[in-house]
Amino acid sequence: AKICEHEFVVEATPVKRLCKTHNRITVNGQYPGPTLEVNNGDTLVVKVTNKARYNVTIHWHGVRQMRTGWADGPEFVTQCPIRPGESYTYRFTIQGQEGTLWWHAHSSWLRATVYGALIIRPIQGHPYPFPKPHRETPILLGEWWDANPIDVVRQATRTGAAPNVSDAYTINGQPGDLYKCSTKGTSIVTIDSGETNLLRVVNAALNQPLFFTVANHKLTVVGADASYVRPFTTKVLMLGPGQTTDVLITGDQPASRYYMAARAYQSAQNAAFDNTTTTAILQYRKSSVMKPVMPSLPAYNDTNTVTAFSRSFFSPRKVEVPTQIDDNLFFTVGLGLNRCPPNFRKNRCQGPNGTRFTASINNVSFVLPNKISILQAHQLGIPGVFTTDFPAQPAVKFDYTGNVSRSLWQPIRGTKAYKLKYGSRVQIVIQDTSIVTPENHPIHLHGYDFYIVAQGFGNFDAKKDASKFNLVDPPLRNTVAVPVNGWAVIRFVADNPGAWLMHCHLDVHITWGLATILLVENGNGELQSIEPPPLDLPLC
Ligand code: C2O
Repeated sequence: AKICEHEFVVEATPVKRLCKTHNRITVNGQYPGPTLEVNNGDTLVVKVTNKARYNVTIHWHGVRQMRTGWADGPEFVTQCPIRPGESYTYRFTIQGQEGTLWWHAHSSWLRATVYGALIIRPIQGHPYPFPKPHRETPILLGEWWDANPIDVVRQATRTGAAPNVSDAYTINGQPGDLYKCSTKGTSIVTIDSGETNLLRVVNAALNQPLFFTVANHKLTVVGADASYVRPFTTKVLMLGPGQTTDVLITGDQPASRYYMAARAYQSAQNAAFDNTTTTAILQYRKSSVMKPVMPSLPAYNDTNTVTAFSRSFFSPRKVEVPTQIDDNLFFTVGLGLNRCPPNFRKNRCQGPNGTRFTASINNVSFVLPNKISILQAHQLGIPGVFTTDFPAQPAVKFDYTGNVSRSLWQPIRGTKAYKLKYGSRVQIVIQDTSIVTPENHPIHLHGYDFYIVAQGFGNFDAKKDASKFNLVDPPLRNTVAVPVNGWAVIRFVADNPGAWLMHCHLDVHITWGLATILLVENGNGELQSIEPPPLDLPLC
């Protein structure tokens, strides 16, 4: 195993997209940011210097951070933000994860342009569990706004309304041929006849689950969220924001040019969304320059395709899923609309019928602290930063598919954590409340991978649905796309002490409070306890 050192300078950089140049926050002047390549077992040391005018932190999405929660990155959860002019060095070791993860800013909406791929190859000297590909290409799906994304979210929080949707989707930072002024930059992926290319697909978009396909080519899925899966072939992928999928593609078609394309999977009803299509070009080396073949993509609301795709995921072999459960949690996730008090400033209630949007888990809308991080407060015993009364179950269970009483549309606000003992075997049922709109929520847990043992539609029924649990070979993920109008059940062992954010990876939902903290206590002994905080941990 080796030590991989990198320097990230976060700074404003001119970026030209859709005919105009804008200043955007980038890492080392690159958008998307640098690709990090390591082997399983390596230690990463990344010094981040903030030369921008915003606070920033970097999160290593999906990295387990065993005992190194100080390097996880979400602002005010595991660290205070890195202020302009300051730096912080993230140090962590990749333990037992192989495939594709990514890194992104975890402050406000900076991750719109501050993100990049983290490629984890097998332990040095070990092969892939599939034939070695001839090439490997990261495919980062993203979202572009002509306006500064920080202004877009500020506007939304000031008015209580839904934020503006993006102006383009991107592949490796480029909108592609179908958008104005974008042909020149279109990203080109090469392949040779008979070759295979390992595409490492990441959904880095802020607010949109995306379909991805390649014209005339089959995709063989071999991994997701840095775990291998039992290989299966498909025409189309769906990734919720935060998710990654590794696919093999073979150059078995006539030497030519083919579009790779991505566009929205939109499960929310009556909500505005960006209905454009981003493309890149798959180009055979010997092909002449001709118009690429366009693939067909599922309709934006094609939930059947999403269900079939998500049901194709299995671990490659039998795995050890906890069967006895110590903490049995039921988390309802969804939106809400806060009524505005009569004397409230009118311009702050521009949501539907003079309300403000909100979102919650178990009817608690999460509020970040702003003076110190939750992990620091926990480790140093500083009171008054958060409470540990996050409910294991919603106060009232109701029919999540029916007409929900308006009294349930207005969550309370709070900085509440749910405490787990070291080693606890945890099950969480995640249920879409469908309040305001049913929606597919990509729920991400920091510090852990979890088994998705079941998912389904309607109301979760503990008796009936237990028979559907796959406790033999379920997939291991860090982000689950919870079915629209449905539920998912995840299981894991709380073997990593720390303060771990669990949230919807649609940034607009985390902005509205769809988040909570799982606080995993130290166990007995050094190997069961979090390491001491780094000396350069930022101050608030
Ligand atoms: Cu990829 Cu809390 O984030």
